[in-house]
Amino acid sequence: MKNDEVQVCVIGAGRAGVIHARAITQVPGAHLAAVVDSDHDACKKVCQELGAAESYPHYLGAVENSHFDAVIVATPTRLHHEIVVAAAKAGKHILCEKPMAMNPSQCEEMVRVTRENRVKFQIGFMRRFDGGFQRAKEIIQRGQIGEVVLVKSLTHGPSTPKRWQYDISGSNGPLAEVNSHDIDTLRWFTESEFTKVYAIAGNYRCPEAREEFPDFYDNVSLVASFENGMQGFIDGAVSVKYGYDARAEVLGTEGLLSVGQLAQQSVVTCTRHGEITQPVVTSWRDLFADAYLAEDRAFIASIRDNSDPVVNGHDGMMVVKVVEAGNRSIREGKPVCLNTQP
Ligand SMILES: NC(=O)c1ccc[n+]([C@@H]2O[C@H](COP(=O)([O-])OP(=O)(O)OC[C@H]3O[C@@H](n4cnc5c(N)ncnc54)[C@H](O)[C@@H]3O)[C@@H](O)[C@H]2O)c1
Repeated sequence: MKNDEVQVCVIGAGRAGVIHARAITQVPGAHLAAVVDSDHDACKKVCQELGAAESYPHYLGAVENSHFDAVIVATPTRLHHEIVVAAAKAGKHILCEKPMAMNPSQCEEMVRVTRENRVKFQIGFMRRFDGGFQRAKEIIQRGQIGEVVLVKSLTHGPSTPKRWQYDISGSNGPLAEVNSHDIDTLRWFTESEFTKVYAIAGNYRCPEAREEFPDFYDNVSLVASFENGMQGFIDGAVSVKYGYDARAEVLGTEGLLSVGQLAQQSVVTCTRHGEITQPVVTSWRDLFADAYLAEDRAFIASIRDNSDPVVNGHDGMMVVKVVEAGNRSIREGKPVCLNTQP
């Protein structure tokens, strides 16, 4: 630590990395010391905007620099494993974006190496830091809706996938990139592990990908059972165009709870044409702006207080196991049982 501040290096200055870099400049007790990106212009832009003194084109140059305390990994998912392993071996604390990695064996190694090197390892499930989702969890824990029976969670993203995302073997598809959050919410709200999943999927909105990437799906429905007998349902979609939509509903033995909203503001307009309109949330950046900041605050606090991160590598790994089972179920057209024992 320098000047009693945790020195942070953000690796990957794209959509998620920029959010973290901005957040770190707002977290007391943290300092954005450096940015890494193989794209020189992206790196320079963030450094200039936020005053980071150092920039690197490659993560190895950064993690081998001994004056950083922590890294935030926000590169494409396929690089998470090698970057986290290198950072842990260099003694850096790590906040890694979701999905944690490409497969469970990569996750296992990441958990082992971070433990062996005694560094904090947090995974970027920012819904755990969202005020609404936290309130929902409290209501469930207080038993206000009785015993939980079913947790439903949906994420619909507006944008058309990038080309690499069409290749399910290289991206793990929307179940990984979009629905990792829903999978984590189901584990968090049920306080249990998935035992069986059945998923169906198809490509309804991306005709340009059909010929070259026949396995690509832009819509997925996944039904699940849990060790404690609860039920789960996940609804995932990309390229929906109407807005960014992230909501969950919990049915209990004595009530129902719902969290999340599609409306951007509380303003509702009624016109003489007989219409009612309300602005729609268009981006996860807006919907979860406070949650990203709270997530980064929690990461810095866990380093400063030497406490355990709220959401850790084990949580990240369990989600990757469900993604793998869900994609297998889609391929094979049948339910898949999970071995969730660590
Ligand atoms: N928590 C969330 O809600 C959330 C939201 C968006 C993205 N993500 C996750 O964050 C990660 C990044 O996604 P994104 O949308 O920001 O992607 P992006 O494409 O916008 O940004 C990735 C950045 O990484 C850089 N990069 C690529 N290879 C690199 C390398 N070898 N070394 C250094 N930099 C490299 C790219 O130049 C780019 O600037 C993904 O794992 C994604 O799933 C999470």
